[in-house]
Amino acid sequence: MTSRERFLSACACQPLDRPPVWVMRQAGRYLPEYRALKAKSSFLEMVKTPELAAEVTLQPLRRFALDAAIIFSDILVIPEAMGQGYKFRDEGGIGMDFRLDNIAQLDRLDPTGVAQRLDYVGQALTRVKTELKGEKALLGFGGSPWTLATYMVEGGSSEDFARIKQLFFTDRPFFTALMEKLTTALIEYFKMQIKAGADAIQIFDSWGGIIAGQDYEAASLRWVREIIAALPKDFPIILYAKGAPSQLTDMAFSGAKVLGVDWTVDLGVIRRLVPDSIALQGNLDPVLMNTTPEIVRREATRLLETMRGTRGHIFNLGHGIMPEAKIECMESLVETITQWK
Ligand code: CP3
Repeated sequence: MTSRERFLSACACQPLDRPPVWVMRQAGRYLPEYRALKAKSSFLEMVKTPELAAEVTLQPLRRFALDAAIIFSDILVIPEAMGQGYKFRDEGGIGMDFRLDNIAQLDRLDPTGVAQRLDYVGQALTRVKTELKGEKALLGFGGSPWTLATYMVEGGSSEDFARIKQLFFTDRPFFTALMEKLTTALIEYFKMQIKAGADAIQIFDSWGGIIAGQDYEAASLRWVREIIAALPKDFPIILYAKGAPSQLTDMAFSGAKVLGVDWTVDLGVIRRLVPDSIALQGNLDPVLMNTTPEIVRREATRLLETMRGTRGHIFNLGHGIMPEAKIECMESLVETITQWK
């Protein structure tokens, strides 16, 4: 069985001897070969140059026996392609070129033709697809409308998300118009990624956990459901939300085949709450990758045992790997999973 088949079987909740494994922000700052490329080009140059984006995507797979690759890009290429650019702030975090706070700005955002403007992502996907020779799975991704809107309305990374929540509560027509534009853009973008060779798509609702439980549907989930409904039936979509354990049972009705789960919950408990037809991805605490190979082996084994006998588990960290992660911890993680019986 190839890694790609293993990954797709897990998405379809087929029985497997061991779960497939991959890691987000695997192309991140913990790899010296990534830092070497980054010393020569900026993050956005790398994202927008298909050869470089493909190379960064493949770097972790050359080191570790992972079952899937996630394309090197960023969720914020969507606002940028609609007319709201961004940069990384010197002090850390994201700075958008402006704060979205009036109708004139909203009117200027253009969701039509985003797929052409993001052709560089499609080209990177096609390059990686060829290199993987059908042996490993290739993931495309994007942000949820809600998570993208937080950056657009806050003007970048935020501490309290007060502006986006205030917009949601006080000006529903503006909020809805923004979500409709993002939904249109994301449907076009994901269709392009599927055409370019993505085997699955992960939707990051990274800020899904900041809205009150009963508002999650109106703020985020209904837009995600609309996107998934517009994509080919049965195409594997992984829906990830951070800090939203009580939303997981609602997320199971989004049309997503897989739910991505953060590290704060017991995955075995979530397994019993979510229908058997939905696979679960997760959920080791990323901080473990900064510890020791022995601790990683112990904790990864514990998670594997928790999920023993269940179907549809994709082994993953509960969020992206940190720049402080140790290579020997990644080696220990992949070895523990691939040798588990
Ligand atoms: O695994 C991969 O390498 C896939 C590529 C990937 C990146 N970002 C590359 C990246 C993916 C899947 C993302 C998703 C992403 N980007 C999300 C959703 C997932 C999550 O983290 O919850 C979000 C919110 C973003 C926006 C973003 N991009 C943030 C908040 C940051 C960190 C900024 C900071 O201050 O550190 C980024 C930068 C980023 N995206 C890096 C990488 C490899 C680090 C860039 C660098 O410094 O080299």
